[in-house]
Amino acid sequence: MEECPSGRRGPTRNRLREVTPPFGGSNPSSSAFIVNMKKKNRKLAILQILEASKEPISGENLGKLLGISRTAVWKNIQQLKKAGYNIVSTPRGYLLMSSDELCKESFEDLPVKVFCFDSLDSTMSFARKLGEEGEEALVIAETQTQGRGRLSRDWKSPKGGLWMSFVIKKRMSLKDAFFLTYAASIATAEAVTQVTEIPAFVKWPNDVLVKEGKKEKKLAGILLELSAEVDELKYAVIGIGINANNPISHLEPGATSIKELKGFPVNRYTLVKTLVNILFDLLKLSPVEVVKLWKKKSLTLGRSVKIIQPQGELIGIAIDIADDGALVLQTPEMEIKKIYSGDCIHATLI
Ligand code: BTN
Repeated sequence: MEECPSGRRGPTRNRLREVTPPFGGSNPSSSAFIVNMKKKNRKLAILQILEASKEPISGENLGKLLGISRTAVWKNIQQLKKAGYNIVSTPRGYLLMSSDELCKESFEDLPVKVFCFDSLDSTMSFARKLGEEGEEALVIAETQTQGRGRLSRDWKSPKGGLWMSFVIKKRMSLKDAFFLTYAASIATAEAVTQVTEIPAFVKWPNDVLVKEGKKEKKLAGILLELSAEVDELKYAVIGIGINANNPISHLEPGATSIKELKGFPVNRYTLVKTLVNILFDLLKLSPVEVVKLWKKKSLTLGRSVKIIQPQGELIGIAIDIADDGALVLQTPEMEIKKIYSGDCIHATLI
């Protein structure tokens, strides 16, 4: 039975003794041990308390431990449940059911076969092997020892992040395959927003960003690798790296994680499931339809940008995405250029 803030309780026959609070005999009736806790940290504290306890903990005791009302506890619990935490309301209080271990989860209800590993060199390499064998699949690794990013960069992949690659087999010409990056970026941004309520956006060509005041920070990156026969796609591997609950100390200053933004970890299983369902829906659309959706989430269009390519740099205003997937740039000389690859730097907002 749901423990509600009104004070009503579950059936009396199931009411058991009060639960001893965690933390070595802290007394919940003494003054609250965390005073003026920031709202953002309350969910983290609730999770820590529930995680440390093998027994259910009543809303009343949680409230006393945190120095907040039972109603506030209840509200925070609802938000945690919405974010995917399996918190069960028992007659004796709240119980956290599962830990954040992806490979222990069942992915059976997903529209794709899932391979989950504690560690891989890179999910891209494993996915390519599956692609050669002709299988559509999703490959997830808790850590990667040789994670790779765009333009042959390293992608650090410690525990807590979400590192995964999709093998996609779809009949399409090679020239249309660009839309897979756009679809994956939209799916990632949308899944992050649905699960965590963090507004997430896309940046050309392959990033997922969040806004922090006037700053933009990278939350996730997409890497597309293609295998083709003549100009038909044989299979694509879409790599997605999301800074979910991993520490941010190893990240570039311009990057952040969901845990950092929310103050508590995201349930990565819920995030994967949400992302997969959105992505597979998007893959049913045409490239033009996907580009339209990408534009709606874009932080790049309408901005002054610098494009860095091996052959040099270009500046201009990013005015559109062409139907062939190119970024359309208007240079200061009012020339229109189509850009197919490169790094894109947004001019800082004033
Ligand atoms: C980028 O922004 O440069 C793209 C990063 C892509 C990283 C992901 S993590 C899962 C998959 N495996 C890899 O080795 N790379 C991609």
